[in-house]
Amino acid sequence: MNQPLEANVSSLHDLQAHALTAAQQRIQQDLLTALEAFALPEPLKSAVHHAVMLGGKRVRPALCYATAALRPNQNSAAVRRAAVAIELIHCYSLAHDDLPCMDNDLLRRGQPTCHAAYGEDTALLAGDILQSMAFEILGSRLFDQAVAVDQGIVLKQMQILATASSKMVCGQVLDLQSEGKQVDQATLENIHRNKTGALISAAVMMAAVTVFDGRDKAIPQLREYAQAIGLAFQVQDDILDIISDTEVLGKTAGKDEQVEKSTYPALMGLEKAQAYAQELHDQAFAALAYFKTDTVLELQQISEFLLSRKS
Ligand code: IPE
Ligand code: IPE
Ligand code: MG
Ligand code: MG
Ligand code: MG
Repeated sequence: MNQPLEANVSSLHDLQAHALTAAQQRIQQDLLTALEAFALPEPLKSAVHHAVMLGGKRVRPALCYATAALRPNQNSAAVRRAAVAIELIHCYSLAHDDLPCMDNDLLRRGQPTCHAAYGEDTALLAGDILQSMAFEILGSRLFDQAVAVDQGIVLKQMQILATASSKMVCGQVLDLQSEGKQVDQATLENIHRNKTGALISAAVMMAAVTVFDGRDKAIPQLREYAQAIGLAFQVQDDILDIISDTEVLGKTAGKDEQVEKSTYPALMGLEKAQAYAQELHDQAFAALAYFKTDTVLELQQISEFLLSRKS
């Protein structure tokens, strides 16, 4: 049952996504430390552990670390807290996304979904508490008790995360409303930018405001990169639902077509969707051209990985 992280690490090695393999090791330990800081009653504790610790590519924490790597040694505890917080929000979004009243899925990260393992009531509450835990961690001294938190940075991180979380929920509502309907490209882009792009962007921007001054020209460049890969991420998720299989994905393949989700391949066909993901990847790379080549390698690697990933 507890093998998916190792399985992911080896396949990521194949893709030479070093930024991700390193991030997976780092975040796994930090997530464990963070969860241990909370005294939760059973079965909530086990459900939270299930939703957070068992597998996952950890793309959002990797984006936090890779963005912070543009300015090494700046506020490292604040970056680590941001990486934990964004992953907790993401895990909450998955636990709720899988519920019977939403996508009704039984398999996630190669495991039974949270509600399949712990029941709908506990899975719902696990998602709820993960959301507040994320914000509590951002305002805490976790990972560096000796240093007082920079309240200006914490406020910015919280605003970014809260806005992105709200957008995710709005995107999820639009996603559900669009099942079985024909939507145009602008509508679909709006759904994807909200339900998925917003949290991906937040991962980059929470680290960006931690290591860069608010007026630094790096900030808009990073926003452009993040928005491009955020949309590309969901386009690729839609593509993988068609071209990959359940065992590799760790979630049920072919599900989107089955419930007539509005997706890019459904709208424009598989090949055009793949070309669009490539176009967004090129946009992301163009936004990184502003930075010195050796500093942006990790961000480039992650964008490459998102395009070539199989799960
Ligand atoms: C899946 O996200 C849900 C989407 C936003 C498309 P990931 O593909 O990042 O899921 P994990 O964390 O690796 O399981
Ligand atoms: C999920 O999109 C976006 C979230 C906010 C969780 P999907 O419903 O396509 O994600 P998967 O395919 O179940 O991972
Ligand atoms: Mg969904
Ligand atoms: Mg889903
Ligand atoms: Mg999907």
